[in-house]
Amino acid sequence: LDKKVKQNNWEEGNFINYKKMSENLAIVRSRLNRPLAYAEKILYSHLDDPHGQEIERGVSYLRLRPDRVACQDATAQMAILQFMSAGMPSVANPTTVHCDHLIEAQQGGEKDLARAVGINKEVYDFLASACGMFSLGFWKPGSGIIHQILLENYAFPGGLLIGTDSHTPNAGGLGMAAIGVGGADAVDVMANLPWELKAPKVIGVKLTGSLSGWTSPKDIILKVAGILTVKGGTGAIVEYFGPGVDSLSATGMGTICNMGAEIGATTSLFPFNDRMYDYLKATKRTEIGDFARSYAKELRQDDGAEYDQLIEINLSELEPHINGPFTPDLATPISKFAEAAKANNWPDEVKVGLIGSCTNSSYEDMSRAASIARDALNHGIKSKALFTVTPGSEQIRATIARDGQLQTFEEFGGVVLANACGPCIGQWDRQDVKKGEANSIISSYNRNFTGRNDGNPATHSFVTSPDLVVAMSIAGSLSFNPLTDTLKDKDGKDFKLSPPTGNGLPERGYDPGQDTYQAPPKDRANVTVQVSPTSDRLQLLSPFNAWDGKDATDMPILIKAQGKTTTDHISMAGPWLKYRGHLDNISNNMLIGAINAANGEANKIKNFTTGEWDAVPAVARDYKAKGIRWVVIGDWNYGEGSSREHAALEPRHLGGLAIITRSFARIHETNLKKQGMLPLTFSDPADYDRINPDDKVDILCTELAVGKPITLRVKPANGEAFEIPLSHTFNEAQIEWFKNGSALNTMAKKTKN
Ligand code: F3S
Repeated sequence: LDKKVKQNNWEEGNFINYKKMSENLAIVRSRLNRPLAYAEKILYSHLDDPHGQEIERGVSYLRLRPDRVACQDATAQMAILQFMSAGMPSVANPTTVHCDHLIEAQQGGEKDLARAVGINKEVYDFLASACGMFSLGFWKPGSGIIHQILLENYAFPGGLLIGTDSHTPNAGGLGMAAIGVGGADAVDVMANLPWELKAPKVIGVKLTGSLSGWTSPKDIILKVAGILTVKGGTGAIVEYFGPGVDSLSATGMGTICNMGAEIGATTSLFPFNDRMYDYLKATKRTEIGDFARSYAKELRQDDGAEYDQLIEINLSELEPHINGPFTPDLATPISKFAEAAKANNWPDEVKVGLIGSCTNSSYEDMSRAASIARDALNHGIKSKALFTVTPGSEQIRATIARDGQLQTFEEFGGVVLANACGPCIGQWDRQDVKKGEANSIISSYNRNFTGRNDGNPATHSFVTSPDLVVAMSIAGSLSFNPLTDTLKDKDGKDFKLSPPTGNGLPERGYDPGQDTYQAPPKDRANVTVQVSPTSDRLQLLSPFNAWDGKDATDMPILIKAQGKTTTDHISMAGPWLKYRGHLDNISNNMLIGAINAANGEANKIKNFTTGEWDAVPAVARDYKAKGIRWVVIGDWNYGEGSSREHAALEPRHLGGLAIITRSFARIHETNLKKQGMLPLTFSDPADYDRINPDDKVDILCTELAVGKPITLRVKPANGEAFEIPLSHTFNEAQIEWFKNGSALNTMAKKTKN
């Protein structure tokens, strides 16, 4: 294990550290003394402190040292801006940025890409220059979808990666624990802070039998989603094993892990096997494959490993499935699908079939799909539905262009879109139906929530394998079952489609296509980060001020929020996402969804200095301009929902000092601490009711110490002041964050010393 094997073919100096991992694991083994699941082995071998770390599945918070970070272009903006504000010379851990989310599908690959490069120029220029400046690998627009590129280039067995996108688990197809996170977590790892994760439970999925005919790897996860539902994987890693694994290609395993995000799983993964070795070899990483073979014992579960839940699936009996509409866990086997469509009045006509996306655009997926399209063409018919193809990467596009699958799709009537997310994330200028018109589309994507693809809430979106997408597109009908039903050829004669065939890996190797990678320059002396001072999409951040060392007195309550206050209420998405790289602009959405306890309304609060009612961000800005710090009072589980760092950055930016609630969602609580704010809770939750929105408060910040309450002095407008104890969860290190103004300031200080 002493060998120096590079993590990938793009970077010098970043090695796979099986030696250190095995040492860490030995320490943990001697403490736990029980067989371990594969997921546990990866996590525990990446512990920051294997000796001292508390380890209880579902309970402890693990402090981990991931091998890599990856960001897509939408989330990378704020992550990099924050990282820059710390003033460090380069990222502490290998990081890549991938331009895939901002390309709208309109006319087809080349034109769409050219248009996106124009529209998003300032974002791309910023990302490219910042990546150069701080030594991140930059994958240009057109390079492909983040998860496909990670699998093709960066994933390795036993590794731990975090990525700022929910489908990061795709890299589990190469036996990596790859976890989707918020931008704040990415910044931590870029800045060399340990990364925290609640020790996941482990769900085992035992696969027996083998796949054949129309059944594909996608059907495994469609089935699992049906069993576990969209919530069933929450707080757990799903680990596949058993003899059935060997009938799956590495990219097929990637598909299964990718869509594990739909059941809420922390990640999903497969043990290292020969199919992974083959894929590593085909993608020019034989040395990694050999190295993994030498560490293979630790790249799978121990005999007798215990799972919190166990599911068994016999692949020989598994039917193809179609999931949806509107939710990915409504799983229907193909034999029952026509019936279900009728019973539920789903619009029978298939308007559009879409294959590709990060979920399903491997060479194998494309080859199998093309074999079905070719079968139809041989019978003189084409796709009845509109048909689109989104190659997952430039490498896939170039390879299927060379090997003919792409031409088959075009002959079949398909439009080949850019190597990017496109319709999967709603970047789709759809023209064939009007908004509000009920219609059905079927894709090989992963997510099908209302409106996701085309912004039309009446669109019934179904997800399935690329094979079934092609078959249903040919028939143009949801009631078609290619396993049993016939189609009419050009002469009106009945025929049955042959089951798909196709190679898992290209016989002639992959064609890399155009060069779409920008390595960090060796000499960074001449690189400057490009942000226009007049930009409304990007804004450089300055470090937040350090604490002044005093108690804070006479602060107004900006808003006393009542009921559910999610990160979406605190920092709304939708049109605001455009400003995610511009903190001041996006702060105009701060808390506009929260309900004011004073009047039961959203975004209407009283400015105590003027007595006027105004929007929340406007009042906060007015206080800030007048040098008045403020607090927010919140209800139960404040800040639940997706981990959105803007929800913590905005109140900090607009002059907030503390958020005082009945309870917090933990991730938001941590995010607030990272930004140098004080997340505090009423020691007695009933005290929430004793606070009036017009009261002034003092917070005795100087009392802040680990495990000790801190005093809130409440000063009602008319009436006597009283004191309330507040609890907090700050540890020593986090108290430093508060004192220095943020976690990043703290890291920067350490680096300078
Ligand atoms: Fe992109 Fe859709 Fe995947 S948005 S990253 S292609 S889930």
